[in-house]
Amino acid sequence: MKTYLVTGGAGFIGSNFIHYMFNKYGENIRIINVDKLTYAGNLENLKDLENNPNYSFVKADICDSDAIEKIFNENDIDHVVHFAAESHVDRSIRNPEVFVQTNVLGTLVMLNNAKAAWELPDGSYKEGKKFLHVSTDEVYGSLEEDGGYFYETTPYAPHSPYSASKASSDMLVKAYMDTYKFPANITNCSNNYGPYQFPEKLIPLIINNALSGKKLPVYGDGKNVRDWLYVMDHAKAIDMVIEKGRLFETYNVGGHNEKQNIEIINIILDTLCEMLPDSDPRKAHINKDLITYVEDRKGHDRRYAIAPDKIKSEIGWEPETMFKDGIKLTIKWFFENEEWMKNVTSGAYQDYYNSMYK
Ligand code: NAD
Ligand code: TYD
Repeated sequence: MKTYLVTGGAGFIGSNFIHYMFNKYGENIRIINVDKLTYAGNLENLKDLENNPNYSFVKADICDSDAIEKIFNENDIDHVVHFAAESHVDRSIRNPEVFVQTNVLGTLVMLNNAKAAWELPDGSYKEGKKFLHVSTDEVYGSLEEDGGYFYETTPYAPHSPYSASKASSDMLVKAYMDTYKFPANITNCSNNYGPYQFPEKLIPLIINNALSGKKLPVYGDGKNVRDWLYVMDHAKAIDMVIEKGRLFETYNVGGHNEKQNIEIINIILDTLCEMLPDSDPRKAHINKDLITYVEDRKGHDRRYAIAPDKIKSEIGWEPETMFKDGIKLTIKWFFENEEWMKNVTSGAYQDYYNSMYK
C-alpha cells in the first residue's frame, strides 16, 4: 500500500486531489495531509474523509523542519505531492514576504526532509520514491495576444512576486534533481477552476458576487487571456505523472482552453441564468450591468497558454472536462454548498475584499 504525503491538502487543488485519489484507489492508499490552515486552508473541504482510517491530517507549517521530519520518521512515505503555497497574485503584490517564506523556504524544507528520509548511504535512493512538485504556468511569464505557447523548454520569466517565488521553488527542485539525482518531477499547470476554490480567484469571486448582486470587478480592459482547466483533470494529470512520468522531467498541464476574462464573466452570467429557476430570487440580481471595469493589476500578464504535447504523447494524459460542462459542475457545486461560501466569506474575507476593491 502506497503512502502519500500531501502538503496543502486543505486548499483548493489539494483537497480535490485527495478526493480524486480516494475515489480512484479506495482503501489501497494512505494519505497524510499536512497543512498550516492559512486563510486558504479549510478542513470543511475534507469533512467526508474525517473518519477514513486511511486518511490523516497534521496541522503544521512546511517551514517547520522539525514537524516535517517527525512525519517522515513516523511514516514510510512513498510520494510527496507538494501543493502547499501562497497562491494569489494580488496578495503577493501587497505582501511578497510570506510568498518567499512559504513557497521558496518551505519547498527547501520539504526537499531536505524527503532527501534525508529516502537517500541511501551510497547516494542512491530507496526504490519507487518520488517528489511531485506542483507548479504553475505563470513561471514562464506572459505571451503575446496573437500567438505562441508555453513549452517545457520556454525560459522562465516570472513577473509577479507569486510567480517569482514559484519559479524559485521550481529552480530548487531542478537543482536537487541535477545535483543529488533527487527523484522528482515538476508539473506546470494552467489556471484551475472547480469546487472548493477560494473566492479571491476570478471564477468563484464572479459566481459569488453575481449571486449576491454585487459588482463584478474586471481588471483593465478585460481582455487578458487565461487557459482554464477543470481541477479534476489537473488531479488526474498529477496522479499520472507520479505513476508514469520519467524522473527528473517537467510536464506542462493544460487543455487548450484559452478565454479572455470578460468572456469568462459573460459565460458565468449566462450559465447562472440558465441554471437558476425563474422563481429563485437571486435570478433577479443577475445582470450584465454588474460588470465594472476597475484599475488594472500591476504588472498584469497578458496571456497564458500551455502546450500540453509532452504529457499527452509520453504519458497519455488528456483533459476530460469541456469548459461548458466544467463551469456547470462548478456552479452546481456552489449552489449546493451555500454554507461553505458563507463560512469562507465571513470575517477576514470581508476585510480583504474591502481593502482590495474599495
Ligand atoms: P490554495 O491557496 O487554495 O491552497 C494552498 C494550501 O496551502 C492551503 O490549504 C494553505 O493552508 C496551505 N498552506 C499555505 N502555506 C502553508 C504553509 N506554510 N505550510 C503548510 N501549508 C500551507 O492554492 P491552490 O490554488 O490549491 O494551489 C495549490 C498549488 O497549485 C500551489 O502550489 C499553486 O502554486 C499551484 N497551482 C495553482 C493553480 C491554480 O489555478 N489555482 C494552477 C497551477 C498551479
Ligand atoms: P486569478 O483568478 O487571480 O488568477 P491568476 O492571476 O493567477 O491568473 O485571475 C484570473 C484573471 O482574472 C487575471 O487576468 C486577473 C483577472 N481578475 C479580474 O479581472 N478581476 C478580479 O476580481 C480577479 C480576482 C481577477
